[in-house]
Amino acid sequence: MLTIHPNLKLGHPYTPTKPETSSISLSLKTKTRPATIVNTIHENNQTKQTSAGKIKRLVLTQEGRTKLNTYPDRDFYAYPRFVTHVDDNFISTLTKLYRERLNPGSEILDLMSSWVSHLPKEVEYKRVVGHGLNAQELAKNPRLDYFFVKDLNQDQSFELESCSFDAVICTVSVQYLQQPEKVFAEVFRVLKPGGVFIVSFSNRMFYEKAISAWREGSAHSRIQLVVQYFQCVEGFTQPENIRKLPVAGGAQEEDKSPFSWIMRLLGLFPGSDPLYSVIAYKNFKPIYES
Ligand SMILES: C[S@@+](CC[C@H](N)C(=O)[O-])C[C@H]1O[C@@H](n2cnc3c(N)ncnc32)[C@H](O)[C@@H]1O
Repeated sequence: MLTIHPNLKLGHPYTPTKPETSSISLSLKTKTRPATIVNTIHENNQTKQTSAGKIKRLVLTQEGRTKLNTYPDRDFYAYPRFVTHVDDNFISTLTKLYRERLNPGSEILDLMSSWVSHLPKEVEYKRVVGHGLNAQELAKNPRLDYFFVKDLNQDQSFELESCSFDAVICTVSVQYLQQPEKVFAEVFRVLKPGGVFIVSFSNRMFYEKAISAWREGSAHSRIQLVVQYFQCVEGFTQPENIRKLPVAGGAQEEDKSPFSWIMRLLGLFPGSDPLYSVIAYKNFKPIYES
């Protein structure tokens, strides 16, 4: 089930058709979208099928999708956690990245969000839509204009217009997706041509809720996994990787000196989470079905 909540502003397409009772608002039935998404475009009065957004191959095996805790994710997130999941250095580095990559005035979807936003406070965006599993957390997030609650391991379709966002962000959460191929295809669908998807993560996780392919991996293999999630959807640009490893003093600049490397190896810079981001854009150019 999908629930959509207007957080702050009125007059948006998600405005509920009946008044809210307490803090919970509209519930909508969810439509199932096929795994393979083929777009239709109109050019010179001709209708052409493009394969943009199509899932080319599955990345994960059935075993790779499994979790140690097999209870529904909604149960796990039933109670709000008003904590931050990564340290201040991670957050400030991510905010800096968003400042560089996300244009003011953009329309942004914050996928798998919570009560905190890592978007730069001073930048104004046209709208920020949040998604997550806990309505109380999302209602507290000061950045969100609207939010909706949906378990993406139950249903991967978003009740959002195609080509309606300039950017989608997903922070320290991709490891919980059991059907990432379908979720990345949906992100592709809702992005405007040229729109960006930024997936960021660190070493921390709710171990029992992370998929096996992630739990058993290294930082390198996790980056490769997210790269493959992008590559399995037709029409994303070649993903770019960003790694910001913790260094002494708390800054997150990549320090390649032998001393820093040994200190990191020995775990002597505690309390600083590395930031890994994988970024790709929705290609402008349509890809025609052969
Ligand atoms: C570690 S928190 C990260 C929250 C937020 N992105 C942040 O940076 O603080 C993981 C988030 O993933 C979301 N999540 C986990 N499993 C999910 C699922 N099956 N469907 C949708 N969202 C899920 C939860 O809402 C939770 O807030």
